[in-house]
Amino acid sequence: MRILLTGTSGQVGGVLAGPLAEFGEVVAANRAMLDLADVASIPEKLDAIAPQVIVNPAAYTAVDRAEDEPELAFRVNGAAPGAIASWAAARQVPVVHFSTDYVFSGSGDRPWREDDATGPLSVYGRSKLQGEQALRAAGGPHLIVRSSWIYHRTGTNFLRTIARLAAERDELRIVADQIGAPTSAALIGATLTDLLRKFSGDFSALATASGGTLHLAASGTASWHDFATAIVAGLKARGRPARAARIVPIRTPEYPTKAVRPLNSRLDLARITKLLGRPMPPWQAALETELDHIVEK
Ligand SMILES: NC(=O)c1ccc[n+]([C@@H]2O[C@H](COP(=O)([O-])OP(=O)(O)OC[C@H]3O[C@@H](n4cnc5c(N)ncnc54)[C@H](OP(=O)(O)O)[C@@H]3O)[C@@H](O)[C@H]2O)c1
Repeated sequence: MRILLTGTSGQVGGVLAGPLAEFGEVVAANRAMLDLADVASIPEKLDAIAPQVIVNPAAYTAVDRAEDEPELAFRVNGAAPGAIASWAAARQVPVVHFSTDYVFSGSGDRPWREDDATGPLSVYGRSKLQGEQALRAAGGPHLIVRSSWIYHRTGTNFLRTIARLAAERDELRIVADQIGAPTSAALIGATLTDLLRKFSGDFSALATASGGTLHLAASGTASWHDFATAIVAGLKARGRPARAARIVPIRTPEYPTKAVRPLNSRLDLARITKLLGRPMPPWQAALETELDHIVEK
């Protein structure tokens, strides 16, 4: 079985190549091989690769920049998944597509269920929602995996930024009124592997059992302030020099950003818990693993 994997230079795409090899031959397509901004070229490229499964974590992920580049964000996150979905549906090729907590409005404090009404607050959120809608409209076998607050031991992300700032500054001021679940890319890779094993590598069967959409995040709830506090404590416990003595909780308006972010990004995990037959691990456990890797380097 030939599995096309996009976004291989990214956090999620980078960790998925290994685990997916258990289920077929992975064709890792970077931007040079398959440019999602060039939507018209997608069907021809897919004809040439002839995948039997498509796993698409590639996306325009610059949340604030998207406010200034909406056309590009919608092309990569909306139109391109639409072209992939049409090509795949015509051939009954299952598509695993990644989406985000930012499709929700963030109101209330109950975790968002897969079938809750969406209400994105930003260009990025709206563009990702358009991608989801295109997948569903195409009518082929699909699994939309929504995750939240993704980080990894390498690359540019909250974990790495806090690790750097903690070594440079005496005080960090971190938003404490946005809540969600920090989720490591490694946890996403391991969980998807577990799920696929349960369905004997049958992507379509997993997609059907998931009802087409699945929330995949670590369990528990954190604010960005909680997350930063745990990162700095974890680094100190591992003997990493960390100057930051004070981590001051602030409110969202004190850290203005171009894009509005949801206050409540909690994702309900009942569906994935049932499919896995076990709860997702707490966010702190995955963080410990990533900190071990950072410190080893
Ligand atoms: N990061 C988060 O906190 C978060 C949270 C929830 C959901 N998600 C979703 O989860 C998925 C994976 O996120 P991530 O954090 O792994 O993203 P990431 O690290 O920012 O990686 C994005 C990937 O997409 C590729 N890409 C961007 N534009 C492209 C284009 N025009 N053509 C082809 N490839 C292109 C990038 O390639 P280049 O290296 O060439 O740019 C990179 O490999 C995305 O769908 C994202 O929307 C992310």
